[in-house]
Amino acid sequence: MQKLELTWIGKGQEPAVEPRILLHDASRDYGDPNANNMLIHGDNLLALKALEQEFAGQVKCVYIDPPYNTGAAFSEYNDNLEHSTWLNLMVPRLQIIRNLLSPDGSLWISIDDDEHAYLKCLCDEVMGRTNFVANCIWHKKHTRSNDAKWFSDNHDYILVYAKDKLTWRPNLLPRTEESAKGYTNPDDDPRGVWASGPCHAKTPNPKDIYPITTPSGRVVMPPAGTSWRFSEAKMKDLIQDNRIYFGANGDNVPRYKRFITDVQNGFVPTTLWFRDEVGDNQEAKKEVKAFNPDSVFSTPKPERLIERILTLGSKEGDIVLDSFLGSGTTAAVAHKMGRRWIGIELGEHCYTHCIPRLQTVIDGEQGGISQSVEWQGGGGFKFYELAPTLIVKDENGFEIISGQYDATMLAAAVAKLCGYRFAPREDNPYIHGVNNVGGFIFVTTQYITAPLLGEIAKNFSDTQSLVICASAFQVGIKNNFPNIKLRKIPQSVLSKCEYGADNYNLNVVELPDFEETEEDFEDAE
Ligand SMILES: C[S@@+](CC[C@H](N)C(=O)[O-])C[C@H]1O[C@@H](n2cnc3c(N)ncnc32)[C@H](O)[C@@H]1O
Repeated sequence: MQKLELTWIGKGQEPAVEPRILLHDASRDYGDPNANNMLIHGDNLLALKALEQEFAGQVKCVYIDPPYNTGAAFSEYNDNLEHSTWLNLMVPRLQIIRNLLSPDGSLWISIDDDEHAYLKCLCDEVMGRTNFVANCIWHKKHTRSNDAKWFSDNHDYILVYAKDKLTWRPNLLPRTEESAKGYTNPDDDPRGVWASGPCHAKTPNPKDIYPITTPSGRVVMPPAGTSWRFSEAKMKDLIQDNRIYFGANGDNVPRYKRFITDVQNGFVPTTLWFRDEVGDNQEAKKEVKAFNPDSVFSTPKPERLIERILTLGSKEGDIVLDSFLGSGTTAAVAHKMGRRWIGIELGEHCYTHCIPRLQTVIDGEQGGISQSVEWQGGGGFKFYELAPTLIVKDENGFEIISGQYDATMLAAAVAKLCGYRFAPREDNPYIHGVNNVGGFIFVTTQYITAPLLGEIAKNFSDTQSLVICASAFQVGIKNNFPNIKLRKIPQSVLSKCEYGADNYNLNVVELPDFEETEEDFEDAE
């Protein structure tokens, strides 16, 4: 059967991305040294690939706010190519994000009208159309742009997908003080405060039209065209249980008592997200201005918006990921909400904005959502850079292992490329990693001779399997041990992926979607 699909230039030609190792830069860590939050500087496709092996199936909530593709990507503007470029940028990232999501995880994406419809089709393909949950509308701006040629653009979308919609449910939103206001206890009911609702049903059931005698002795019938919402027997029980209220004098028409303890402990989210509940661009600008008054990040999201997403999509201790971290909002909010977080940012603002912002959060800053979540400070993060590509070309054009790799980096990188988790062991110097089925890998630049192979073999039983990746082997020793396989590096890893690409950013230009209005300036001062 013919497939319904969106096509574009370059579709289906996703790169075979090199699973790089992450290099820990302890000089940029901050706070609790045992914290496992991760701030990663680098291209997010490479970084997501770097995380895939370790975190597959573990991330509970992914929020991304990619460049909206609002500007021309090329000097000679080609609309079709530009859309394709943007879609090609998104596809491989979404594919890895899907792999990273836990079975009960969800993906939330900010987007505006420029690419929304295309992104929806694309996400339907990657995440599965049946896993589409909602398209929320966020009221991002309240002022009218009177200089807009067509419409003043006052909303963004947040596309929501579940990894598996059949089992995924959003958490409820906490009840507000406002919503509890309708609950009182005029009859001092020991079960606590309650709100009342009518006892009649709009869709009448002829069986449930019967007279009720109030405590004052008055006989009442359901209003014309309705019936009572309960059968006569049930109504009797409810009256007996003091769940029907007839007013202070016992003379009113009956009302049904709904105790606050009986109703759901929160609200189901709606698809309309108003700025008074989740903030707007202006609020976000003020928040980031507090961290970097001299260099205000141009497209931040308000902390309250991310709080809403993380409330619905995660619980304390869950892993939250944002691979377009920008000024660090998601990491800051996740931190304050007790989530474990991973943030990836390519730009220099990873150093100039994300690090200082997260440091102040750890120190206990009181902006954004801090007061509402009673944030006191604490925790920490570790900082990582992407390792350079493993394979480079020498002056003769031959592919060789990059000189930037020391022995440990090489072992970690080759183990990762071959699908092993890097786990060197002190009790056995010939183990660098282990795979899902318990097989071991040993990586070395040594020349493996027959005696050395024999020495290595002594450290493994016949039932343990080992792959040795080495630069060279003595001829004829390949089959000396049935449980040990020999592979040559770099040759054996050359075909595994594409090497040398440091950036899959595809040069998409992002124009700020935040228009400074006079009011913004006034408020921001
Ligand atoms: C709209 S901003 C995100 C703003 C963020 N939500 C906030 O509240 O600050 C998009 C970010 O994605 C980053 N970005 C774009 N391409 C990237 C890539 N290939 N890898 C990592 N980050 C990238 C940009 O540098 C920019 O900071």
